[in-house]
Amino acid sequence: MGPPGAGKGTQANLLAVSRHLVKLSTGDMLRTHVKAGTELGARAKLVMDEGGLVSDDIIISMVKAELDQLDPIRVLLDGFPRTTGQAEALDELLASYGAGIDAAIELRVDDAELVRRLLGRGQQEGRSDDNEATIRRRMAVYHEQTKPLLDYYRQQGKVRDVDGVGTTDDVFQRIDGALETEPV
Ligand code: AP5
Ligand code: MG
Repeated sequence: MGPPGAGKGTQANLLAVSRHLVKLSTGDMLRTHVKAGTELGARAKLVMDEGGLVSDDIIISMVKAELDQLDPIRVLLDGFPRTTGQAEALDELLASYGAGIDAAIELRVDDAELVRRLLGRGQQEGRSDDNEATIRRRMAVYHEQTKPLLDYYRQQGKVRDVDGVGTTDDVFQRIDGALETEPV
């Protein structure tokens, strides 16, 4: 978990390989729909370009469809859950498979660095939500709707806070180390 630009996708790719996990990224799934021109993609694009959140129902059914194909369930979730509704639905889903959440990683990066990273990516890759106005909205939505979920996982003793500033490799080493220690 972490705000837009914190490095969730970058680190999830590395961690999935090193720990033999299947990476499930709801942002990537939605962008695949947008590219494929599906009806869901068209609806999602409107929300994503404004920096809002796609409805819980859509997100949960997309994740369920992926989890249904896995046995055992050894997954790394990137950008999900993002609301209390998604977190509760995830707990229910996982329980129905006899699985559960082992750890939640919080990547911490200051706002100025987030904006710098995302504007840089916007210029390089042209992701349509990487413009200043949408970045600000995504950051606000993260603080309002997603960050409170960290308390939910903290109460369960599952959160590892990691400093997300530094080289990609430094951050990866920190995450790897944090997963070997008891949560605070
Ligand atoms: P999503 O795709 O999840 O985007 P996001 O949360 O806004 O975050 P990003 O993917 O932009 O950043 P990241 O943390 O993955 O960082 P990254 O590694 O890419 O969601 C997009 C939209 O889809 C949402 O706004 C919403 O509308 C919708 N959505 C998705 N999931 C949803 C859900 N569950 N419920 C409802 N709606 C949902 O890195 C960013 C940049 O920084 C890259 O250029 C990278 O190269 C660079 N970088 C990475 N690490 C470093 C480093 N250590 N130092 C310097 N640069 C770095
Ligand atoms: Mg991402």
